[in-house]
Amino acid sequence: MLFDAIDRSGTYAVKLESRIAKFGTDDLLPLWVADMDIVSPAAVQEAIAKRARHPIYGYTVYPEEYYRAIISWMRRRFGWEVRKEWIVPAHGVVSSINCAIEALSGEGDGVIVQTPVYPPFIASVKHHGRKLLENRLLYRDECYHIDFDDFEAKAKEAKLFLLCSPHNPTSRVWDKEEIERLTRVCKEHGVTIISDEIHADIVYAKKHHVAASLQNDNIITLNAPSKTFNIAGLNSSYAIIPDPAQRSAYAKAQQKCGLGGGNPFGIEALIAAYDKGEPWLELLKKHLSHNIDLVKNFIAKNDLPIKTVDTEGTFMMWLDCRAMGYNDVALERFFIHNAKLGLNSGRSFGEAGSGFMRLNIGTSQEILQKAMVRLHFAFFQ
Ligand SMILES: Cc1ncc(COP(=O)(O)O)c(C=O)c1O
Repeated sequence: MLFDAIDRSGTYAVKLESRIAKFGTDDLLPLWVADMDIVSPAAVQEAIAKRARHPIYGYTVYPEEYYRAIISWMRRRFGWEVRKEWIVPAHGVVSSINCAIEALSGEGDGVIVQTPVYPPFIASVKHHGRKLLENRLLYRDECYHIDFDDFEAKAKEAKLFLLCSPHNPTSRVWDKEEIERLTRVCKEHGVTIISDEIHADIVYAKKHHVAASLQNDNIITLNAPSKTFNIAGLNSSYAIIPDPAQRSAYAKAQQKCGLGGGNPFGIEALIAAYDKGEPWLELLKKHLSHNIDLVKNFIAKNDLPIKTVDTEGTFMMWLDCRAMGYNDVALERFFIHNAKLGLNSGRSFGEAGSGFMRLNIGTSQEILQKAMVRLHFAFFQ
């Protein structure tokens, strides 16, 4: 075991404190919202502690080191050369998705999403009165694939495409050829890509390809160190927008919502994470790989009628529970009340997620083992 789980009680953690609101009970192991029970890298803790020792926490600018840290991370990790002026600091990736939709499309315009997908993708299209164009992913042999014929048909009536890469909740890490094909189709039909790459750093056997590094006009990249280094509460994300007109439209949408200004702790955390967090990240990926194996092996060994979709990236496992014999409501009830486990229901990722559950494995092996035993006991009792 590489990481223990840290007791998060007393820290107002959503994962714990929102259990009653989400599941109707707090008598369950929380394995849902996408942050981890694992300590952030020591360098991040030290940078925040150092900043906290200065007793004024006022309005803060984004310093040169902030831009340098992002540029260097993108170059080292993904071989992508980013220019400083392309970077627009942001509050969160979800707020950026909303700003980009507002800035780059109009009422009734079509926006493609690939379902099942992270719920704010669907919600943001609806909130802005755009037309949701659902390009359902195809599920075959425990893996998800893109339906390119359908994608191409939808691209003809779309203005935007919200790409989730790597994909949450299916954990697919898109191949270079797949991204190239998507960008080619979008280019042909004048569709702007908003590429949410917040999970880019946590990939296992495969390599993550930054969509904009393959074909960088007409793609907005959204990213953050938040998932990678477990600092999601610090709101330190950013958009990378090479096109000046798109950049200024996006920045205007941010201003309209008053979303300016840096968070002093988020800025320090981002710099420390990107400058010094790489060795920790490699350990984290090892830890998560062991966790994936634990879940897969337990399910296989104990004949649970659940299929584990191949986990290519992210710290989420997407469980195909359709053979358990429940409808969605009964499946959710079973997990909450019988197994006493708080997972995300598949349905919350759109109808395409029906019959599935999303398990957050960003915790200790001890907790995951406990979860598996509960699941087994509840199913076979
Ligand atoms: C694909 C994806 N995008 C965005 C977010 C949230 O980003 P933020 O907290 O920066 O709004 C998540 C969190 O789970 C996510 O999975």
